[in-house]
Amino acid sequence: MSLRLGDTAPDFTADSSEGKIEFHKYLGDSWGVLFSHPADFTPVCTTELGRVSNLKPEFDKRNVKVIALSVDGVDSHKEWIKDINETQSTTVNYPILADGDRKVSALYDMIHPNADNALTVRSVFIIGPDKKIKLTITYPASTGRNFYEILRVIDSLQLTANHSVATPVDWKDGDDCVIVPSVSDEDAKSKFPKGWKAVKPYLRLTPQPNK
Ligand code: BEZ
Repeated sequence: MSLRLGDTAPDFTADSSEGKIEFHKYLGDSWGVLFSHPADFTPVCTTELGRVSNLKPEFDKRNVKVIALSVDGVDSHKEWIKDINETQSTTVNYPILADGDRKVSALYDMIHPNADNALTVRSVFIIGPDKKIKLTITYPASTGRNFYEILRVIDSLQLTANHSVATPVDWKDGDDCVIVPSVSDEDAKSKFPKGWKAVKPYLRLTPQPNK
């Protein structure tokens, strides 16, 4: 059964390149991004893991813990990390889960047998501080993900959680936001002191509240 938005992210204990991880404990009160890789020593994954390592300050700024998964073992991960560091100008700074028995992959439905029977697809889960799943994305093994897009979604989710705004098409940091329909015009007066433009009664644009 695949996981859906709003479901609780399954908890697990697993080995990683940084030791044993108890997932919910590891996340604590933070947001989380869990993302899977088909296998160690694969070219696309090598570039992705390097990019996430270099973007780690951006995840930290947003109170997000990142954690990767690849179905190989810890010793293999540690050897691979040397290559990632060497080729991607980085020092990998977050854990890579080992999942030789496919336990975590199965919990998160990361193996799609009609794509590949043994290796994971490229799954991404964004998990809120309440441990609920806020986003799922599935990419094919042959396509590297865009982690700037993951950061953009986190910004949007955090704006909704903290400021009752949604983000319109192609929104980027600093653009106007949309007041969520559950906020009445009356309540919006105090919530959005910068005001808003009502393009339609249901489409109210306001400057990004945290800028
Ligand atoms: C990779 O991770 O590099 C990869 C995996 C499967 C197919 C193609 C590339």
